[in-house]
Amino acid sequence: MKGRHERIKIKGWSGSAAVWLLLVPLFVLIVLKTDFLPQVARLGDTSFTKVADEMVQKVSSLGLDRARWQQQQTLDVAKLEDSVVGTSDELTGHVDANNEDSNQPNQQILAMSRSKDSRLINSDVAAAKTSHLSCNFSSAHMDTCAMDGDIRIHGRSGVVYVVASSDYRPENATAVIRPYPRKWEQATMERVRQITIRSTAPPGADTDGGGAIIPLRCTVARDMPAVVFSTGGYSVNFFHTMNDILLPLYITAREHGGRVQLLAANYDRRWTAKYQHALAALSMYPVVDLDADAAVRCFPSARVGVESHRVLGIDTPLTGSNGYTMVGFLAFLRSAYSLPRHAVTTHTPSPRRPRVVMVLRRKSRALTNEAEVVAAVAEAGFEVVAAGPEEAGDVAGFAATVNSCDVMVGVHGAGLTNMVFLPRNGTVVQIIPWGGMKWPCWYDYGEPVPAMGLRYVEYEVAANETTLRERYPMDHPVFADPVSIHRKGFNHLWSTFLNGQNLTLDVNRFKAVMAEVYTSITAAPV
Ligand SMILES: *[C@@H]1O[C@H](CO)[C@@H](O)[C@H](O)[C@H]1NC(C)=O
Ligand SMILES: *[C@@H]1O[C@H](CO)[C@@H](O)[C@H](O)[C@H]1NC(C)=O
Ligand SMILES: *[C@@H]1O[C@H](CO)[C@@H](O)[C@H](O)[C@H]1NC(C)=O
Ligand SMILES: *[C@@H]1O[C@H](CO)[C@@H](O)[C@H](O)[C@H]1NC(C)=O
Ligand SMILES: *[C@@H]1O[C@H](CO)[C@@H](O)[C@H](O)[C@H]1NC(C)=O
Repeated sequence: MKGRHERIKIKGWSGSAAVWLLLVPLFVLIVLKTDFLPQVARLGDTSFTKVADEMVQKVSSLGLDRARWQQQQTLDVAKLEDSVVGTSDELTGHVDANNEDSNQPNQQILAMSRSKDSRLINSDVAAAKTSHLSCNFSSAHMDTCAMDGDIRIHGRSGVVYVVASSDYRPENATAVIRPYPRKWEQATMERVRQITIRSTAPPGADTDGGGAIIPLRCTVARDMPAVVFSTGGYSVNFFHTMNDILLPLYITAREHGGRVQLLAANYDRRWTAKYQHALAALSMYPVVDLDADAAVRCFPSARVGVESHRVLGIDTPLTGSNGYTMVGFLAFLRSAYSLPRHAVTTHTPSPRRPRVVMVLRRKSRALTNEAEVVAAVAEAGFEVVAAGPEEAGDVAGFAATVNSCDVMVGVHGAGLTNMVFLPRNGTVVQIIPWGGMKWPCWYDYGEPVPAMGLRYVEYEVAANETTLRERYPMDHPVFADPVSIHRKGFNHLWSTFLNGQNLTLDVNRFKAVMAEVYTSITAAPV
């Protein structure tokens, strides 16, 4: 693949403008997962398959480990509930300064502790320390539990204790959540680690025996909220990273202004490193690897599970007084990645040519006449930055490139998710492959666009612009009745229309569309 991308000089470009920036992380580009037929998750191309295989291996070993986990959980809990805790250096630096004994791990118990203040805590504060738990299982996307009071999280066993819960009921003293917001996709959710929330009864309550669990003692006490999420699921795909993890974390954790501890199930070190900028903007503390964590971490409040509303979108009313919007989310990302351009400047005469980033695919839905298409876009008046998926992933670097542009062009696929880094009033041009794909493509990367403060333009290819022509006659259902292929199931749709074609754009028709985009950007506002 390397060497294919020599500098190309295009007529009419200034030399320095004609630089092909070939950045891009994005094996994610290659992957696509449409939501409109949600049951099946498709992991397409070979370079992704390698990653996918790794993931599947990891996942299935997690699956195999589940029994071991459960066993371990019993062991850990038994051991820990016998209060064999408080080993680690974890404690250093996490202790309350106002406690003389604070360097003694076992004294770091919030309520019901044997610390010096325990009389005080038990007599006065303990009553106020009654915990509250409320869970919401009614969304189609996710389950979440919110809790406050005396919350203790033991990562390795995957248990969250809600100590002395005023909402305690013996019949539902245990709730289970997989903290990833694709509840309707069973196969995905099976790869997400399950977190158990155990309530204990308030003192003196009639517990029916069930509330007799003695909660673990805290080994690390923090005075900030906790949010438990998962980096499992489809985090290798940039669309899913945004849609299933970062946006939901924004909705769930942003309100704490960074003073929040994130704890990740299915912890993926590479993922947390890759998205460190966004994570650091959400929380000023490193993400805790929940799976490996032997500490008992105590918090005054916690959320287990993250909130997701719609594809790359936010239902503002559901965010209450926070009033979150996608425009706000994009502004948050710009700040997290230190992106300088907040809005496209539309005034004429512009100090420079408007700039287009072309998100190019390689293995499927690739442009067979890429160079001609790039030239056509340049002839329509733009400076062009062509970005292929080859170079390994520097999210921040590509975010900066996208932000320097006014327009993003790409064939339907996860790479278009990078639109979140465009400045306000930027334009997204989605090229829709052949096969009755207009609606599903719009659903992922069209419908969400206006709420981001961006503009959306569509270019739907005609039957004479697809390499499917080489494989099927015009009277074949692929051309005569593409929707009949959809009806055969997602696998057929995927292999035929998403994985099975490259595009040869009609350069003149595409150039005309780009010329209109150019006019809409450079025309002075009325
Ligand atoms: C539970 O979640 C649903 C869907 O997100 C929401 O409409 C409802 O208001 C929530 N219920 C409570 C009690 O928060
Ligand atoms: C337990 O059940 C009660 C009603 O029986 C309900 O109000 C409460 O929300 C439930 N708690 C959890 C954690 O599901
Ligand atoms: C976006 O474009 C609209 C219409 O041209 C304009 O009214 C608005 O001020 C622009 N927004 C920003 C942030 O530049
Ligand atoms: C491709 O087909 C469209 C109609 O579907 C037609 O307008 C166009 O001229 C054709 N282009 C070429 C290059 O044949
Ligand atoms: C699309 O193009 C790529 C790169 O040239 C090639 O590897 C792939 O096999 C092509 N796919 C189809 C369906 O033609």
